[in-house]
Amino acid sequence: TAPGPVLAVESSCDETACAILAPEGTILAQRVISQDGHADFGGVVPEIAARAHLSLLPGLVKATLNDANLPPAGLGLVAASTGPGLIGGLIVGSGFAKGLALALNRPFVAVNHVEAHALTARLPGLVEGGAPFPYLLLLVSGGHCQCIAVEGIGRYRKLGGTIDDAAGEAFDKVAKMLGLGWPGGPALEQLAREGSPDAIALPRPLIRRPGCDFSFSGLKTAIAQKLAPYGHTPLPRSFAADLAASFQQAVADVVADRINHALDMMPAARLLVAAGGVAANTVLRARLEETARSRGCRFAAPPLRLCTDNAVMVGWAALETWEEAARRGQTPFTDIAMRPRPRW
Ligand code: KG4
Ligand code: ZN
Repeated sequence: TAPGPVLAVESSCDETACAILAPEGTILAQRVISQDGHADFGGVVPEIAARAHLSLLPGLVKATLNDANLPPAGLGLVAASTGPGLIGGLIVGSGFAKGLALALNRPFVAVNHVEAHALTARLPGLVEGGAPFPYLLLLVSGGHCQCIAVEGIGRYRKLGGTIDDAAGEAFDKVAKMLGLGWPGGPALEQLAREGSPDAIALPRPLIRRPGCDFSFSGLKTAIAQKLAPYGHTPLPRSFAADLAASFQQAVADVVADRINHALDMMPAARLLVAAGGVAANTVLRARLEETARSRGCRFAAPPLRLCTDNAVMVGWAALETWEEAARRGQTPFTDIAMRPRPRW
């Protein structure tokens, strides 16, 4: 096992996060700051994000150590997500973590952000009955949209992914068209409660096609066409609500179909895990649960704060990869000279 608690840093997008986990995975402290300052631009501005990480990290790390009641010297290792993500934020976060590791003379572990999402379900006590390999991971966030066969630590197979927008991106773009601000996924779900999911006919991109790739741009275009007749006149609320509900239904139909195909490609899977901010959507969650059940699989979605970007998942992935490397007789830590990999 790891030589002591791990301090982990996450800075790949617009969440600045730090967490400390005991070697067996108990969460000792965790903090996440969701940066503001991006909404006015309708999306994450990489340069603003990197500068915010830089100014937030020192105080955040100090506060997290404080929460855990741990002096820096009590740490066993330091980890950071080093890709994929926005290069500026990755440089800031990994640079900070490496500096801390050097100053404390502790090993540094570079963590792949997607691997961290993939392994979160294995945090002790998180999923009832545990999350033994292999399982199917659906990662749906603002930046990611993929089906991954999680077969072991370090053993991942991408079964399919989006060929245009990520699911969260589609939610955000449609929400923007409906005047709901950014990021608009939660507001769109709220509005959809007032509408009818069958009111407006929308396409189901890629449905029943082989494989489990996703496409959302056609759906977005179809919504733009429905909105065109209104020009700059305000949308009747009931129409906006019907559009929101119909869009959400279309996304759920597409995702359910894709998951069915992914499960066909992975017959050994007995568990479906959903992660990423879009997994917070209750309509989508219900469909995923139903799809899993119809295939004789369990369904698990980590609680929202562990589903969206956070540092607990980074610390946990560092502990799991540490252990696996040690088991295989390999070096469990990373060369401090490694560079962040935005497209890892
Ligand atoms: O995982 P996440 O917090 O961050 C990154 O993508 O990095 O995911 C954020 C995405 C946004 O696109 C947001 O609109 C979407 O998740 N989202 C939702 C809901 N809550 C968050 N989409 C649909 N329904 C929701 N309830
Ligand atoms: Zn993420």
